[in-house]
Amino acid sequence: MCGIIGIIGKAPVTPLLIDALKRLEYRGYDSAGVATLINGHIDRRRAEGKLVNLEARLKVEPLPGTIGIGHTRWATHGKPSERNAHPIATDRVAIVHNGIIENFQELKDELVAEGRRFDTDTDTEAVAQLLTSYLERQMSPEAAMGKAMERLRGAFALVAMFSGRHDILMGARRGSSLAVGHGNGEMYVGTDALALAPFTSRVTYLEDDDWVVLNSTGCTVYQGTTTVERPEKKSGLSGALIGKGNHQHFMLKEIYEQPAVVGDTLQSYLDPATRSVRTPSLPLDWTKVSRVTMTACGTAFYACMVAKYWFEKLARMPVEIEVASEFRYREPPLPEGGVCIAVSQSGETIDTLEALRYAKSQKQILLSVVNVPESAIARLSHAVLPTLAGPEIGVASTKAFTTQLIVLLNTAIAAGRARGTLSREQEEKLALAMIELPARINETLNMEDDYRRIAESTLAAARDVLYLGRGSSFPVALEGALKLKELSYIHAEGYAGGEMKHGPIALIDDAVPVVVVAPSDAIFDKIASNFEQVRARGGKLVLLSDAQGVARLGAKAETSIAVPDIDPVVAPILYTVAVQLLAYYTALAKGTDIDQPRNLAKSVTVE
Ligand code: F6R
Repeated sequence: MCGIIGIIGKAPVTPLLIDALKRLEYRGYDSAGVATLINGHIDRRRAEGKLVNLEARLKVEPLPGTIGIGHTRWATHGKPSERNAHPIATDRVAIVHNGIIENFQELKDELVAEGRRFDTDTDTEAVAQLLTSYLERQMSPEAAMGKAMERLRGAFALVAMFSGRHDILMGARRGSSLAVGHGNGEMYVGTDALALAPFTSRVTYLEDDDWVVLNSTGCTVYQGTTTVERPEKKSGLSGALIGKGNHQHFMLKEIYEQPAVVGDTLQSYLDPATRSVRTPSLPLDWTKVSRVTMTACGTAFYACMVAKYWFEKLARMPVEIEVASEFRYREPPLPEGGVCIAVSQSGETIDTLEALRYAKSQKQILLSVVNVPESAIARLSHAVLPTLAGPEIGVASTKAFTTQLIVLLNTAIAAGRARGTLSREQEEKLALAMIELPARINETLNMEDDYRRIAESTLAAARDVLYLGRGSSFPVALEGALKLKELSYIHAEGYAGGEMKHGPIALIDDAVPVVVVAPSDAIFDKIASNFEQVRARGGKLVLLSDAQGVARLGAKAETSIAVPDIDPVVAPILYTVAVQLLAYYTALAKGTDIDQPRNLAKSVTVE
C-alpha cells in the first residue's frame, strides 16, 4: 500500500525522493507524486500510473528544492487520478498519507462549513485542510499537528511539509508504520527501513500515536503534548539485499532464495547436531494451553491452515484458524489460557493487527510469526517468532510463506514435545526431513524448465484452472490457485479433493486444467479416486507428486512432474515451491506485471 518518504537535505532532493519511491514500489500503487519547497512555496509534480510517468513529467518540469516529500498512492478514496495523487496540498501545507482517515467526512463537513473548498476526492485532504485552518488561526505547525492528532480517527501514517518552513518536516502515525532516518546534517522519514536503507542505517521507529518534528540535525517525538524518547536503532538492511540480482523479477529471485532462507530460519529453530528443535523461550506452558487460535490474511492464512494439521497431529491440541478480517468482527469468546498466533510477512496488515488486538482483549497469550521484527504486530505480541526470509519485495508472498511454515512446524514440534505427544524418534525423523529441505527445494528449482513447459502448454491458455489437494496439501492447492490468479489473472480455485463431487465437478471439461497436489501420503488413495473422477469427465490433469505417485497415476495425467521425495509432514513446504513455479511461468507467458500485479498491495494497511 501507499509509500511515504520525506527528506530534509543539503542538495536537491527530488532524485532521492524518486529513488526512495522506487524502493517502495513493491508495496503496490497506482499514482505517485513529489513536492518540494521553492523559495518557501510548495510546488509539486504528480502523475497517474507508474513512477516512469512521474519521472517523464519531472524531465519536462524539473522540481528543485532541498526539502521535499514523495508518495506512491494505492487509491482508497477517489480514483487513481493525478488530481487525487499525493502530495495533497493547500497553499500552507503539503501532505502524504498512508491508511484511512475514518472521520474525514465529519471533518470535511466542518471545514466546508468554515468556507473551505476541497479539490480532491481523498480523505487525505481533510488533514491538509484541517492543518491549514489551524495555521490560519496563527497556530505554529507544531501546535497544529498536535491538535490535528486529537481530531483524526483511523489507522494512518502521514508526513507534512509547511510553506515557508525549509527547516522542518513533521510525521505522525497511528496503526500504519513510519520511521525516521538520521543522516549527517540530513534527515529522512519514510514508511519503512527499506525506503531509508541507502540513505542511512540509523533508524528510529515511531510508535502508535507518536508525532514527530524533524529538522536537519535530529527529531523530537511527541505523544499528545509531551515529548517521548524513542531509541535510535541500527537497521540491518543494505542496498544489496533489496536488489533484483540477475533475476528478471523480484519474485523469481525470492523463489530462488528459498533454499537459503529456509536454511537460515531452520538454523535458528532447529539444532542439526542433536536433530531436535530449539525451544524458543515463550511466555507459556504448552501443557496448560487450552486452545490455539491462529489468525492471518491471504497466503499467511494458508500457513495457518497447514499449521493446524501440524498442531493437531503432532501436539494433539485443539486449533482454530480464523481469517483475520472476519474474526475481529465476529467477536467469538476465546477460552482462558488460550494462545493466539498471528502470522504476517509485513507485520502491518491491519486486519491481522486488529484481530490480535481482539485476542488481547480476550486475555490470550499473543505470539506472532512475522518477517519484520519492528512491525506493529510484533510489538503488540508477548513473544515474536521471526521468519528469517529477508526483505520480500515481490508483491506475491513466496519465501515469507515457506519460512512461516518452517517456524510453525518447529513450534508445533516444540509443543508436541512439551505435551508428550511426540516421541524422540518422531522428532528426530522430522528434524532430518527439515534438514534435507533446502536441498530438495534446490532440486525442485533445477526442474524449472518442466514447470515452465506445463505453464506454457497447459495453463497460460486456460480461462479457469482448478487445484486439488487433500489433508495438508489442501492449503497448498489454495495457495497454488491464489498465486496463479493474482499473478496471471487466470481464474483459479483450490478445492479439497473430496469436495469436488459436491459441486465443482460440474465445471470439469477438457478446457479446464486441474492441478492435483498429491504427495504419496496416508491419503494418497483418496486423492487418486478424486483424480479418476476428474479424468472420467475429460478434465486435463496436471499431477504434482513424487516418483511413486507419478509411477501410479502419471500415465493417466495430461502431464506430471515428480517432485523430490520428502517426508509427508514436510511435503507442503516443498510442494509450495512447485505451485509457485507454475504460477510464475504462467504469468511470464502471459506477460503480466509479476512483481506488482494490478490492484494489489504488498502491505495491506487499510480494511
Ligand atoms: C499473496 C499475498 C497476500 C498476503 C496477505 C497478508 O501472495 O502475498 O495474500 O499474504 O496480504 O500479508 P502479510 O503476510 O504481510 O500480513
